[in-house]
Amino acid sequence: MNARTIALAFTGASGMPYGLRLLECLLAAECRVFLVYSSAAQIVAKQECDLALATQPREATRQLAERFGARDGQLTVFGREDWMAPIASGSNPADAMAICPCTMGAIGAIAAGLADNLIERAADVMLKDRRPLVLVPRETPLSAIHLDNLLKLARAGAVILPPSPGFYDRPRAIADLVDFVVARVLDQLAVPHTLGPRWGEARASGPIAGTQSI
Ligand SMILES: Cc1cc2nc3c(=O)[nH]c(=O)nc-3n(C[C@H](O)[C@H](O)[C@H](O)COP(=O)(O)O)c2cc1C
Repeated sequence: MNARTIALAFTGASGMPYGLRLLECLLAAECRVFLVYSSAAQIVAKQECDLALATQPREATRQLAERFGARDGQLTVFGREDWMAPIASGSNPADAMAICPCTMGAIGAIAAGLADNLIERAADVMLKDRRPLVLVPRETPLSAIHLDNLLKLARAGAVILPPSPGFYDRPRAIADLVDFVVARVLDQLAVPHTLGPRWGEARASGPIAGTQSI
């Protein structure tokens, strides 16, 4: 198994397909994954993916390990108040962390250094220890408060990676748009993947000539 350990958090922003696909890809890449999600994330998962994420960590681990074919011990789901989780301490941090999708509430709390639950604390640990923290914030439009918080986090070392898929690869399905964003997150986490073509490499079609209606 790849020795890379990734902390992953789902919060209650729209975009749960990104989070679930990211989890699937991390497990497929043989990463060890420590997952924690908020209660709002459970509501969004139900709304957007018709997925009832289990509330008890042990049951959640079983549920998601089975769904994505994880090996024994490859995935562990932690409760939001589990202060004994490895990712709660700088003495045992993950190699990298992503919060995907990430609410403006979580952005604000992390920017303020609240560390009031395991998601906020694990993110705080990544920042203080100068480890990669990838935030996939979702809201539109963004207020000055959101922008201030995002800038503060970028200056503190976080990667702000909005779920903004490009259209230059001519996506045909929602899954293509999701994979575009997940690919960029995996790149930031230094996890290998083969999601979609890379710019400048062999492409299915040439440059677009002229304009076209979409
Ligand atoms: C279906 C649904 C979609 C939501 N979408 C967003 C969103 O895109 N961005 C956001 O910041 N909050 C969104 N919210 C609101 C958050 O879930 C809410 O602020 C919650 O308190 C965030 O808690 P958390 O950060 O602990 O997950 C959404 C809520 C629901 C139920």
